[in-house]
Amino acid sequence: MITNNNFTIKALCISLIIVIPITCSASANQIEAMGKQIAEHGSNAIPACAICHGAQGEGNLKAGYPKLASVGAQYLQEQMNLYASGQRTNTIMQQYAAALTTQQRMAVTTYYADLPARNLKPKDLGGVRVTQLLENGDPARGLPSCFSCHGDRGEGSGSNFPPIAGEPALYFIDQMNAWRTRARPVAEGDPMAIIAKTLNQAEIINLAHALE
Ligand code: HEC
Ligand code: HEC
Repeated sequence: MITNNNFTIKALCISLIIVIPITCSASANQIEAMGKQIAEHGSNAIPACAICHGAQGEGNLKAGYPKLASVGAQYLQEQMNLYASGQRTNTIMQQYAAALTTQQRMAVTTYYADLPARNLKPKDLGGVRVTQLLENGDPARGLPSCFSCHGDRGEGSGSNFPPIAGEPALYFIDQMNAWRTRARPVAEGDPMAIIAKTLNQAEIINLAHALE
């Protein structure tokens, strides 16, 4: 009996070693297809992401929907997980993120991260004061330069720093308020809550419009 069991376990392990790599490479393609499917057609009774975030993930400046194309995969996935757990609050996105499985959230965010970048503004930084904040910060108030993390033109940087250029002004202002009221959480070492509290309302509005 014992020998038989050992044999069965050994056989199972060997077959797993052979099967797992094949399963993994097959599922990379499946995940890509799953992401595109959700983005374009929706899933689990939720609508296509494209309805709001645009056919190419470009977002919608007027309606205030952020762009997703070419935004860091890790950042996007983290945001979906935060909506799903209710740590980042938004009526629409919490509901959608929670309706998707972890794998579906990963698939759809990977799909968007791989799309080409859209809306690489700003063309005009909107006056000396705003340009200074973006490029140099305000050392007297301990404000770091926005571009030092978000890319030279605010286009985003690496997989953790999202773009701030070419995003809806409405969305920008909402996020600053969300950090002020703690509706949006911050990870350890993330300066955004302090930055949002240090900037005054006029600066927030001017930055939002200059970056859109
Ligand atoms: C009905 C409109 C609507 C649909 C459909 C929609 N979203 Fe959103 N999405 C929003 C809004 C509004 C926000 C801004 C929420 C906030 O202020 O936190 C947002 C924010 C996001 C963010 C955060 C972006 C950032 O820069 O932090 C991600 C990621 C996201 N959506 C992914 C998706 C995915 C994936 C789908 C499809 C499964 C989807 N959304 C479907 C309206 C929508
Ligand atoms: C030290 C790095 C750093 C600096 C400097 C910085 N940010 Fe950020 N910013 C981040 C990180 C990290 C995130 C992602 C936050 C998260 O995960 O919640 C972020 C997110 C944002 C977002 C939300 C983008 C989205 O898609 O939801 C906005 C808007 C923003 N920052 C604006 C600014 C502005 C304006 C300044 C300058 C006054 C600035 N940031 C300076 C690190 C930085």
